[in-house]
Amino acid sequence: MAYETILTETRGRVLLITLNRPKALNAINAQLTAEVIEAATGADADPEIGCIVLTGSAKTFAAGADIKEMQAADYAGMYAGDYFGEWERFTALRTPIIAAVAGYALGGGCELAMMCDFILAADTAQFGQPEIKLGVMPGIGGSQRLTRFVGKSKAMEMCLTGRMMDAAEAERAGLVSRIVPADQLLAEAMRTAETIAGMSLPIAMMNKEAVNRAYETTLSEGVRFERRVFHATFATQDQKEGMAAFVEKRPAAFKHR
Ligand code: CAA
Repeated sequence: MAYETILTETRGRVLLITLNRPKALNAINAQLTAEVIEAATGADADPEIGCIVLTGSAKTFAAGADIKEMQAADYAGMYAGDYFGEWERFTALRTPIIAAVAGYALGGGCELAMMCDFILAADTAQFGQPEIKLGVMPGIGGSQRLTRFVGKSKAMEMCLTGRMMDAAEAERAGLVSRIVPADQLLAEAMRTAETIAGMSLPIAMMNKEAVNRAYETTLSEGVRFERRVFHATFATQDQKEGMAAFVEKRPAAFKHR
C-alpha cells in the first residue's frame, strides 16, 4: 500500500516508520493512525523483521492528536466509534518497537512514544500532555502510562498544567531510556534496533512480554510468569545456539526458532 502520512523503509531486519505530516507537525489523524498500525502490523507478521523504529522529524515527533479533526466531534460519535480504540492493536504487537523522539512529543505524540517499548530521546525532545489546555484530557493512555513511567506527582503536574518536560528531565524521571545528540538520534536508534533484531525474535518477544507483564500483575505473579517463560526458552533452537556459541567463544547465529 502507498502511504501518504508515513514513510517506511526496511533496512536489514529493521522496519523504519517515519511520521510524515510536516504541515500539521505529524498530528495524529485517522489516516496516520491507520497507516502506522497497518505498517507496524505488517512488520509484526513478517519473521524477517526483528525490530521496528518509529520516528518523526527533527522538529516534531508528533504534536498530538489532530485537533482540527476532533474539533467538531460529539460524544455519541466519539463513543460509538471508540475514538483512539484502534491503538490497542498497536500495543498488542509483539515485535519490539523503539520510539526515536526529537522535538515535540505532545498529547497523543507523547502517548504514541509511550506505547512503543522504549523511548530514545534526542537532546531536543520535549514531552507533554497539554490536553487540559484544550478543555480535554489524554485519550490514548497518557494519564495511565505517564504515571507508571514517572510517578504520580510529576504525571499529575504535567496533566494538570500541560507543561512540557525536556529531555534531561524525561531521562531523570525514567520516561526515556537514553538521550543522544539530535544529529545522531536516527543512527543510534537504528544501531539499537539492529542489535535487537540480531537476537532471536521469539526470545525477544518473550522478553517484551515479560517486561510488559510487570505493568499488568502483582510481583509474585509476574516473577512466576517470568520463570515459566524462562523455562520455555529451553524449547527453542535458539537457546541451544546461544549457549553453544558462548561455550565455543563465537557469535551466535540465531535462527529465530
Ligand atoms: N492538531 C492539528 N494541527 C496541529 C496540531 C495538532 N495537534 N499541532 C500543530 N498543528 C498545526 C498547526 O495548526 C499549524 O497549522 P497551520 O499552519 O495550518 O496553522 C501547524 O501545525 C504548525 O503549528 P504551529 O504554527 O502551532 O507551530 P509552532 O512551532 O508555533 O508550535 C507546537 C508548535 C507548540 C507543537 C504547537 O503547534 C502546539 O501547541 N500544538 C498542539 C499541541 C497539543 O495541544 N497537543 C495535544 C492535542 S490533543 C490530544 O493529543 C488528545 C489525546 O490525548 C490523544
